Amino acid sequence: MRASVKEHISRLKAYVPGLQPGEGEQVLKLNTNENPYPPSPWVEEAIREEGSDSLRLYPNPTSQHLRETAACLYRIAPEQVLCGNGSDEILGILLRTFTSRGDAIGYYEPSYSYYKTLGAIHDLVLQPTPLGDDPLTPPLPTERDVKIFFLTNPNSPMGFSLQPEFVARVADHVEGILVVDEAYADFAQKNCISLIRELPNVIVTRTLSKSYSLAGLRVGFAFGAERWIEQMDKVRDHYNLNRVAQAAACVALCDQSHFHENRDRILRTRERFARALKDMGIESFPSEANFVFAKLASAEAASQIFDKLTERGIYVRYFPQDGLDRGLRISIGTDDEMDRLLEELRTLIS
Ligand SMILES: Cc1ncc(COP(=O)(O)O)c(C=O)c1O
Repeated sequence: MRASVKEHISRLKAYVPGLQPGEGEQVLKLNTNENPYPPSPWVEEAIREEGSDSLRLYPNPTSQHLRETAACLYRIAPEQVLCGNGSDEILGILLRTFTSRGDAIGYYEPSYSYYKTLGAIHDLVLQPTPLGDDPLTPPLPTERDVKIFFLTNPNSPMGFSLQPEFVARVADHVEGILVVDEAYADFAQKNCISLIRELPNVIVTRTLSKSYSLAGLRVGFAFGAERWIEQMDKVRDHYNLNRVAQAAACVALCDQSHFHENRDRILRTRERFARALKDMGIESFPSEANFVFAKLASAEAASQIFDKLTERGIYVRYFPQDGLDRGLRISIGTDDEMDRLLEELRTLIS
């Protein structure tokens, strides 16, 4: 047999998603920034309607109705919207559209670690820019000559937001496309969608996984200039969103009152939780996302607390890497869930 795996793929370290509970295991899951509240009740109805006879038929290839619904909500043209099977798929489409083997991509470090994995999958040169000692005021990217620079705003895993004025400076600075990954922007005060009109190289990505409680449905978007979206559209799988996802995502976007109510509850719990951490002597970055990055006394303390919480059935996220190893990323759940975590933390740090 002469079959062999590409060398750079055999060397690749796969992306490691947050721990999932075993079958039937009851845990408090605060490790992947899922939403603790159910999606709009309209979603269940849409799934029921779509999930019967029509499943024998292929879905609309361009997710046209969803495209139009998103365009209407964000006040852009449908031709400026691309729908993806989660925003992770959109990130892959971006690389397939704008990069060739050996090209460079940039991103801030720390930020969403999947950019690095995707870059390695596509055999690209990785040009990370360290956020520096004060991540809230990062430097401009060190390498300008990149095909794509990914800027996660709000930052994950730290949760803080950079101002649109700074994002615009980054867009001016880099020579390629600036992707503003706004997976958490619904929990922030500002966002960068208007930059797609003002700056030709900006593409914004969004997801319904967090603020719309639809992580399991897999729906994400890219918003950008028509000329980029048109090219990206050629690269996606032709039926990338299934019928159920298209129908459910449309009604979820339409139910804005459910969205606002749900989002506001999370924001209130986030503020209450960050205050409670502070009262215990635990600092965190000012969060504009649906999680808080709690800074502990040392990497050892963070890793031990992570292990103990996991043993007790409370899943949070620990990143054993430079710049993050002293902290824990904790998703915002319900008030009761956060109270249970706080109680455990109190016993562990006392
Ligand atoms: C910064 C960031 N971007 C993108 C994603 C991918 O989201 P999804 O593929 O669920 O839309 C995530 C998921 O955690 C994320 O944290």
